[in-house]
Amino acid sequence: MDDIILYIIVKYGRRIILTEEFMHTFEQTHHLNTTVGDHTLSVAAEAVKLCLMRGYSDEETIRNVVTAALCHDLGIMGRKEKYSNTAQCYLKHPLDSVDVYMGVTGEQEERVMDSIRNHMFPVKPGMPKYKEGWILTLADKISSFKEKMGKQAVRESVRREILDRIQKPHANEFGDSIIELFSDIPCMESERIVLKQITRDDATQLERLISSKKVYEYEPTFLFEKKYESAQRVIDHLYDEGLSESMILGIYYDGDFCGLSEYYGYRAHIHKISVGYRLLEDYWGRGIATESLGLMLKYLNDRTDVGIVTASTLPENKASANVLKKNGFDLVVSGSQEDWGYEKMLPTDKWIR
Ligand SMILES: [Fe+2]
Ligand SMILES: [Fe+2]
Repeated sequence: MDDIILYIIVKYGRRIILTEEFMHTFEQTHHLNTTVGDHTLSVAAEAVKLCLMRGYSDEETIRNVVTAALCHDLGIMGRKEKYSNTAQCYLKHPLDSVDVYMGVTGEQEERVMDSIRNHMFPVKPGMPKYKEGWILTLADKISSFKEKMGKQAVRESVRREILDRIQKPHANEFGDSIIELFSDIPCMESERIVLKQITRDDATQLERLISSKKVYEYEPTFLFEKKYESAQRVIDHLYDEGLSESMILGIYYDGDFCGLSEYYGYRAHIHKISVGYRLLEDYWGRGIATESLGLMLKYLNDRTDVGIVTASTLPENKASANVLKKNGFDLVVSGSQEDWGYEKMLPTDKWIR
């Protein structure tokens, strides 16, 4: 399962997956060789994949689809006691699932309810009214078909990964230690640019970057460089405790420090990492970020087994979006509400390469 799909399921499905009702679904077998829970996760993954393929990446649709997928078969729990035969189960479990959906979420979203109610189309009378419903119906058929052909719905490791992430309060604050990925602090260079370890000599320039209002209009506040009061102290700790979360390198243009590049959110078993970058204002508009990101990607490609690279931008940060586009990233989710360390959650665009 792609990391971005996993991320979306965790983000929009946490309130459902964490419930007792959902946890029990791993105890009831389904389609002979799987469980209701694993089938459900598989349908959610197929549904999100269809959404992204069709370009339905607005938050409302994604949330509805994940919700409907995770709840579509919750009503089938206890089927042997509830339904006297298969035909009755086909007819009734979608309606029972709508009730369970309302019970576990406390929500009554018409698009979600209609999707769940009609997910057995065309076996049961009633046709989905909304695109969410068509996506769910198709995803359910794809998953069921795969399961009946003996294909495992969701790999054990993926299920564990989802449940593991769900337990954590901030879905996007996870990561294996980045030290596992880099045997030493990398140094990368092109003709104009060098990315390398920051030293105490860079403290004044780093101070300028950290205190720039203009730069932080577009950047998270909780990164490592804001953890200590002085830039000097930040630099002292960047390559010991800082390494548990991220690998931050200075960007040097013609020998001068001009910004930061960062690898973070490393997930070893799915070979995924996230990247970020920021430049002092006087260095904007010269292609430095594009070139730096190019170097970072080349390093991952040549020296590591990372295959998935993700990035986040605020929608108004067009310059940063262009840097990602030029380096082959695709926008996969737009306007998802995320914590950037400010008072309110901010709409965020998610990119993947
Ligand atoms: Fe079903
Ligand atoms: Fe199903």
